[in-house]
Amino acid sequence: MSDSPSGSPLLTRRPEWTALEDHRADALPQPNLRELFAADPGRAERYVVHVGDLRIDYSKHLVTDETLALLQELATATDVFGLRDAMFRGEKINTTENRAVLHTALRAWRDAVIEVDGENVVPGVHAVLDKMSDFANRVRSGEWTGHTGKRIRNVVNIGIGGSDLGPAMAYEALRPFTARDLTFRFVSNVDGSDLHEATRDLDPAETLFIVASKTFTTIETITNATSARSWLLNGLGGDEKAVAKHFVALSTNAEKVAGFGIDVDNMFEFWDWVGGRYSYDSAIGLSLMIAIGPDRFREMLDGFRIVDEHFRNAPAEANAPLIMGLLGIWYGNFHDAQSHAVLPYSHYLSKFTAYLQQLDMESNGKSVDRAGRAAQWQTGPVVWGTPGTNGQHAYYQLIHQGTKLIPADLIGFARPVAELSDDLKAQHDLLMANLFAQGQALAFGKTADEVRAEGVPEEQVPHRTFRGNHPTTTILATELSPSVLGQLVALYEHKVFVQGAVWNIDSFDQWGVELGKVLAKRVEPALTEGADVPGLDPSTAALVAAYRNLREV
Ligand code: F6P
Repeated sequence: MSDSPSGSPLLTRRPEWTALEDHRADALPQPNLRELFAADPGRAERYVVHVGDLRIDYSKHLVTDETLALLQELATATDVFGLRDAMFRGEKINTTENRAVLHTALRAWRDAVIEVDGENVVPGVHAVLDKMSDFANRVRSGEWTGHTGKRIRNVVNIGIGGSDLGPAMAYEALRPFTARDLTFRFVSNVDGSDLHEATRDLDPAETLFIVASKTFTTIETITNATSARSWLLNGLGGDEKAVAKHFVALSTNAEKVAGFGIDVDNMFEFWDWVGGRYSYDSAIGLSLMIAIGPDRFREMLDGFRIVDEHFRNAPAEANAPLIMGLLGIWYGNFHDAQSHAVLPYSHYLSKFTAYLQQLDMESNGKSVDRAGRAAQWQTGPVVWGTPGTNGQHAYYQLIHQGTKLIPADLIGFARPVAELSDDLKAQHDLLMANLFAQGQALAFGKTADEVRAEGVPEEQVPHRTFRGNHPTTTILATELSPSVLGQLVALYEHKVFVQGAVWNIDSFDQWGVELGKVLAKRVEPALTEGADVPGLDPSTAALVAAYRNLREV
C-alpha cells in the first residue's frame, strides 16, 4: 500500500480517506441543515470553539459528529500534529527550499529557545523588534528628521506580495489605533501610476520610504524604489546624502540593500525561515509599527501567540485551526467545492481577504505532493470576498441561488470602534444584523411552501425559493483590537498549514510565481527595444507587435 518514496500511502488510498468518501455517499442527498438542527439543536452550542477572544461557530456546516470524527481520523493518519510539532521545533519542513518554517518564532516569548541549525533564533527576533521600536518611536516623536531637518509626516512602504499585503491590510484594520498626524501609503504595483498617486501630494522633505523586500531582488519593488529615490533627490536638490535620512530597508539580504545604496544601519533584518506571506509580524511590519506604536504592535504579537499556543496545545476536537482546515477539506475534496469566501462585516477588514488570498493560494496552490508526484486530489481553494454588506449587493445572489457550493466565513465584532460618533455607533447593530441574517438565510433558505404561504403566484415560486444548505463559519469577537487581528491572522495561517499537511504538499514554497518573473524579464527588451526575443510563441509575439504599433500611434 506504500505508494510514495517516503513510504506513506497515497492520500486517496488511505482508509481514512475512503471512509469519508463512503460517509459522503451514504449521506446523499446532502445532509440538510434544517434537519440537522431539528434532530440536534444542541449543535448550536456544541459546534463552537473559543480561542483567545474569538468565538468560532461552525454549527452551520454540513457535518455531524460522525463527519467530524472521520475528518479527525484523516488528520491523525496524515500526521498533521507531527508536522505541526516539527514546524514549531524549527525543522526544515519547507523541503523544496530546505528551510525551516518559523513565523511562530516571530512572536515567541523573549526567553523562548527555538533553534535553527543549532542556533537559538529568538534573541535575534527580539533584537530586531527592539531596533524597530526605537526607530518607530523616533519617527513618531519627530526626533528622526529628514535631510532638511523637517519632521517626517509621510511614510511610504514600497513592497509587493507579502512585503505589501500584510502591512497594508493591518494598517487598514488598525486605523483607529494609528497616529492620525502621519500619512501612510503602500506602493506595490510596477505600474508607475501607483507611485505617482502615492507621492504626488507629498513633500519629499517630510517623506520616509520603507523598501520592503525579503530578497531585495523583486523587480517591481526595486524599480519603484529606484524611482522613489529619483523623486526624493529631485525634490531635495540632488544631494545623495539625503537617502540615508529618507530610506530604510526591510530585508534578509544585506548585500543587496547595501548595493542599492541604503546604509545597512538603516536595515531591519529578518530571516530565510520567515516566508514572505507569513512575514508582516517581522521587520516587514515596520510601517505598521510606526503607525500604531510599538506597544500596540506587541499586543498584536500577543494575539498571534495566543493562537499559536492554542494550535499547539488544544485537543483535536477543540482545535480551531484544525477544525477550520478539515471543514475546508470536507468541501473541497468530498463536495467538489472550488472556492472559499471570506466575508468580513467590518470596513476596517476591507483588505483582509486580499491578504488571505496570498496566504492561502500561494501556500496551497500546488499540484504535486511532497514526494514530487501529481496530487490526485484537489488542493487549495480559490479564496475570495470583500466586506459582507457590499458583497450582499453584488455577488451574494450567486451564493444564495447559484449552482455552486461556496463555503464562507462571516467575521464580525460586537462593538464598533470607540472613536465613532454615537450616530455612527448606532449603525453597528444594523451591520451585525446583516451578518446574522445572511448566515441564517444561507443555511436555512426558504422553502417553496414558505414562499407560497406568502401568497406568491405559483409561477414565481421557484424563483423565490432559496435552497439553503450553504455552509458558513461565524467568527465573532468583542472588537477589532491589535490582539484580535493577530489572533485572526494566526488562525488562518494555521488553517492553511493543516490543509497543506493533509494534502501532503509543501505549503511554504512558491515556484509557480518564479516562471512569470523570469519570463517578464525576458519579454521586456522586446517591448522597450523591439529586440528579437527567442522563444516567444506566435500569439505573444503578435501581441508585442500590436502593443508597439499602438504605442507609436
Ligand atoms: O509573489 C512571489 C513572492 O516571492 C512572494 O512570495 C513574496 O511575498 C513576494 O514575491 C515579494 O518578495 P520579496 O519580499 O522578496 O520582494
